[in-house]
Amino acid sequence: MRTFPTDFTWGAATSAYQIEGGSTADGKGPSIWDAFTTIPGKIHNAHSGRSACDHFHRYREDIALMRTMGLKAYRFSISWPRLLPRGRRAVNRAGIAFYDRLIDALLAEEITPWATLYHWDLPLALQMAQDGWLNPEMPTYFAEYADLCFSHFGDRVKHWITINEAWVVAILGHGHGIFAPGRTSHDEPYRVGHHLLLAHGAAAQLYRSKYQPRQRGVIGMANNCDWREPASEEGPDRAAAERALAFFLGWFGDPLYHGRYPEVMRSRLGDRLPRFTAAQAAQIKGSTDFFGLNHYTTMLAAHCDNPSSEGNYLTNIGIAEDQDLELHLDPEWPVTAIGWGIVPWGCHKLLHWIDARYDHPEIVLTENGCAVDDDLVAGRVDDQRRIDYFNGYVAACHQALADGIALKGYFAWSLLDNFEWALGYSMRFGIHYVDYATQERTPKASAKWYAAVIRQNGLP
Ligand code: GAL
Repeated sequence: MRTFPTDFTWGAATSAYQIEGGSTADGKGPSIWDAFTTIPGKIHNAHSGRSACDHFHRYREDIALMRTMGLKAYRFSISWPRLLPRGRRAVNRAGIAFYDRLIDALLAEEITPWATLYHWDLPLALQMAQDGWLNPEMPTYFAEYADLCFSHFGDRVKHWITINEAWVVAILGHGHGIFAPGRTSHDEPYRVGHHLLLAHGAAAQLYRSKYQPRQRGVIGMANNCDWREPASEEGPDRAAAERALAFFLGWFGDPLYHGRYPEVMRSRLGDRLPRFTAAQAAQIKGSTDFFGLNHYTTMLAAHCDNPSSEGNYLTNIGIAEDQDLELHLDPEWPVTAIGWGIVPWGCHKLLHWIDARYDHPEIVLTENGCAVDDDLVAGRVDDQRRIDYFNGYVAACHQALADGIALKGYFAWSLLDNFEWALGYSMRFGIHYVDYATQERTPKASAKWYAAVIRQNGLP
């Protein structure tokens, strides 16, 4: 038996746009994803999150699934345009009431709510009239929205995540343009990333000064990173792998823990990388109570003198031209339905990289999971591949704990099959199967496996 610490947090995660549906229900305003999904060709089969898993109406049923599993924590996101339909000022009371009901129902089952403030569904009005995350005022608007959330929910929500995956918003939303708002640029991602960090910093400072002394919760950011393994022992490939990690996770982790961008980004990007004033750097440095990490996969990294980002986005390469980087899979690795390698030792190495670079922070794995081509057969989904994936990654976490890394929790992505962004409903990440025609949920074999892990607090 590989046992975990008694206070280890076992959870599952979702996000508002991916599961809620109810996209115009009870006064919700439109988000950039409501708009983006109407653009022909952007989303697999023209799918959208209009109804998604209808969690907005079925949250009680979904909490019952969590209770059956013995889930300790549930990570969800709050939809900014459900609370503030135009992004600022006028508050939609019915939106507040929805999250009040959700939070109260979770607490009634002793499931700890972990709330993410921004999982990509920016109020459309802020994009159309204000240029969204390109606008240096956006951190102020985000802090206003955060204030609203802390003041209404902070008496019961003690775990806050400001922004989910700033890298994705910057690179996929403003670099490759495959996610909302669909912009393509080699420069905008670095400005957007800068504003997201400032937004996090403003919200965290507000929480710490105005709410934390009374509410006694914690606040962090959830950043995503894959592991980059050098493609060879040669110096240039080793440097390329390290550079790739700096451009992926160091981009956000270094400002949060060291108050500045990685040196390799500053030297390569020059004036394309914005600068923090001394006051901004001081606000961001040390602004997280835990290191939130979303991790899914690993790629081999090689030095390349004229790389291209074109069509490369599923590898999560970023702006390849800025990194002299090429990525590929080891053909020996098994892959998930999305084509991502299943490489648990990459997770273990990344946890060590974070531990060393940021001086032993408390880490929470805020997302980990995989897409499988699941079939519902006679009322059952036998997703052994997903169980194998989880088993490998949870074992890697256990190894990291045994090495002394301060890993505090693990959240499976995802509680439910849901709207997988540009890939629509074609990719199933859930531990519960969702029949989108009937909205019926079926626990997969992986949900039962995970329930046993939670019950035993470890791996057999
Ligand atoms: C993450 C994201 C989630 C989910 C997952 C699976 O990057 O935060 O919303 O879609 O990937 O691809």
